[in-house]
Amino acid sequence: MKATFEGAASYVPETRRLSVLADAAAGCRGCPLYADANQTVFGEGRRDAPLILVGEQPGEREDVQGHPFVGPAGHVLWRCVEQAGIDRAHVFATNAVKHFKHEVRGKRRLHKRPNTDEIEACHPWLDAEMQAVKGRVIVALGAVAARSLLGRPVPIAKSRGTEFELDGRVVVVTYHPSAVLRADEAAEEIRAALVSDLRAADTRSRESVGAVRRRQ
Ligand code: URA
Ligand code: SF4
Repeated sequence: MKATFEGAASYVPETRRLSVLADAAAGCRGCPLYADANQTVFGEGRRDAPLILVGEQPGEREDVQGHPFVGPAGHVLWRCVEQAGIDRAHVFATNAVKHFKHEVRGKRRLHKRPNTDEIEACHPWLDAEMQAVKGRVIVALGAVAARSLLGRPVPIAKSRGTEFELDGRVVVVTYHPSAVLRADEAAEEIRAALVSDLRAADTRSRESVGAVRRRQ
């Protein structure tokens, strides 16, 4: 299907220096989402981070503060990272889409899920980040991240524990931390699954195996 938007490609510089990429992303107009958002929210963390976490898109707080995972879902995520025994300094955290998509209801700005065209439009930024950061294991948090990284829809619950491959690296999928916030009685179960998937991904990122071990 032909993309509806120009996309980010022409805004992405050739360098893979994260700071330069982030500066360039601040001026991206590759799809209409920049127009109603405050700012681009780029990935953060060290380029030698062994573990990469990819979320969906910045939320309301992230859009205001300009950093990924600083709102309620981020709070859940970092708590799970801690519970999994992972040092935050070992993590590079980013999103599939770099601008906050939302609708205005009264005084509130409510999250809207990015569509496939928007995910594709923003993919060159994610791709550049993946090239810039060395981590061997990439965790897709939720369906939008999985769709962007793998280029096709992947059912999250069914695909947990499967190792997908991306340019010789391991991609695993798990729940998005906001699923913990949305779920009622299942919340603790989802949180535990997220912690366990993060722990497994961290362990995997320490293995010095060159090749991807496929489980499917
Ligand atoms: N949800 C995401 O997917 N990413 C963020 O940065 C914040 C909330
Ligand atoms: Fe560019 Fe992505 Fe923002 Fe769209 S969402 S304007 S492609 S940075």
